[in-house]
Amino acid sequence: MQKIEAEQQKPIAFFDSGVGGLSVLAVAAHLMPHEDYVYFGDTANAPYGTKSKEEVRALSMRVADMLVHRGCKALVVACNTATSAAVKILREVLSVPVIGMEPAVKPAFARGDQGKVLVMATPLTLREEKFQDLCDRCATDLANVLILPCPSLVELVERGVITGPELENTLTQLLADVDMSVISTVVLGCTHYLFLQKTLTRIFPAHVEFIDGNIGTVRQLARVLESRYLLRDNPKGRGKVELLTSGGDPSLHLFRKLYKIAYDEMEGLE
Ligand code: DGL
Repeated sequence: MQKIEAEQQKPIAFFDSGVGGLSVLAVAAHLMPHEDYVYFGDTANAPYGTKSKEEVRALSMRVADMLVHRGCKALVVACNTATSAAVKILREVLSVPVIGMEPAVKPAFARGDQGKVLVMATPLTLREEKFQDLCDRCATDLANVLILPCPSLVELVERGVITGPELENTLTQLLADVDMSVISTVVLGCTHYLFLQKTLTRIFPAHVEFIDGNIGTVRQLARVLESRYLLRDNPKGRGKVELLTSGGDPSLHLFRKLYKIAYDEMEGLE
């Protein structure tokens, strides 16, 4: 009994290549406010999405190992890229439950719209077999899935560029060959892109819906914790959020800023 209580008091760990996963952490802090969180952004090694699967797997293992040794009751891979490269091995070797992310292709098709679904994600996520399997399982017709690898976006977000002309020019170039009139839904398949949603909404036609996997991931986290009796039983006030980065103080400053933006954006979420 005491052992379970001690486990319940441990923080939930999150990691990403950098700031992207803060958008997932913000959802968790709203939905489970009494839990403690520790977040690690591997800024020194970002971006992950233009690296090889082997490199991302090795980086993810290192970060996950560090977080588990620090002490946590669950690990959220708040990164679609790291999930596709490493979630399987992390689940095999780690002693805590591991919750991963995948582009929200399933909810996009569950909406039953007739138009095409554009999946924006990193090159690594989109070329992995895991993504192909996901589309095979969830798409009504593979011809309705359009993919757009966006290698340049993560670097912008990592520099704190989430609005303005530099971002707009980059998006215009990325979207130059996309026929927006046929698209009904855009899947934000990288946690960094949540910070760009306002600008994207202005660029795409008004009827286009944006879907991401953040809330679904946190609900899955809550289900896993509950099924293992790991949710805090007697919550006392709001939990702590600790932000860590391999990028040093300048990165931490950006982490705090973007976490606040993401948290405020989710105000009212229950
Ligand atoms: N945020 C990560 C994701 O969801 C990717 C970032 C990167 O390329 O480093 O895929």
